[in-house]
Amino acid sequence: MSVPKRLVVGLSGASGMPYALDLLKTLRRIPGLETHLVMTQGAKRVLLEEVDTHPEAVEALANVVYRSSDLGAAVASGSFRTLGMVVVPCSATTLAKVAYGLADNLLTRAAYVTLKERRPLVLVPRETPLPLPSLEAMVKAAQAGAVILPPAHPDRRPFGLHHPAHSGFVWPGLSPGPALEGGGGARARLAQEEGCVHQPDEDAVDGKGHEAIAADKA
Ligand SMILES: Cc1cc2nc3c(=O)[nH]c(=O)nc-3n(C[C@H](O)[C@H](O)[C@H](O)COP(=O)(O)O)c2cc1C
Repeated sequence: MSVPKRLVVGLSGASGMPYALDLLKTLRRIPGLETHLVMTQGAKRVLLEEVDTHPEAVEALANVVYRSSDLGAAVASGSFRTLGMVVVPCSATTLAKVAYGLADNLLTRAAYVTLKERRPLVLVPRETPLPLPSLEAMVKAAQAGAVILPPAHPDRRPFGLHHPAHSGFVWPGLSPGPALEGGGGARARLAQEEGCVHQPDEDAVDGKGHEAIAADKA
């Protein structure tokens, strides 16, 4: 039985929100892929303070939206099959929780379940300089099976679904089908085995053209 094309995307309270916005906008272009979004309260605060973006505008980029306090949501259970999860940006707090299995909100629970089910979990940690607790948490998370993907790519697309030539992480189940290449910042190119589709990048979070099931905006 094939795994449903569902990807859990978690946003926590760290700088680097442009990476998350880029990822969500890019994932929308993958046919048949459902994005399941969880934002912590910290993420909502950083969105407003650092990129002047209302959380609802980000929610409109996802297919399914959950409250971070809803520990009974679908993504809290391993029986809800997904391709895995990306946490971007991943705060030092969330990193530590994931590393040590502390599942106290829906994002950390979903990450825990992703590891438990041995599905791909990509963490994009954002803190600088990195103190020893965060460095140790990264090692611990990596030992538990997470991929640590620093937000270091020059065109802001450091993670998941990259073209192999960009040495990023290629998502099992979505590769070698759809793969993403950074397009010099101005465009994202969605390449598929059967052909390439070029789409203009969206500079703003407009939330148009996508059905968001925004359950309970906290
Ligand atoms: C504007 C702003 C920027 C922040 N940037 C970072 C950051 O880059 N990295 C980080 O680890 N924490 C950062 N924090 C602190 C976290 O948001 C805070 O530790 C929070 O408890 C994280 O909780 P969460 O992981 O549940 O979202 C920032 C907080 C604010 C208000």
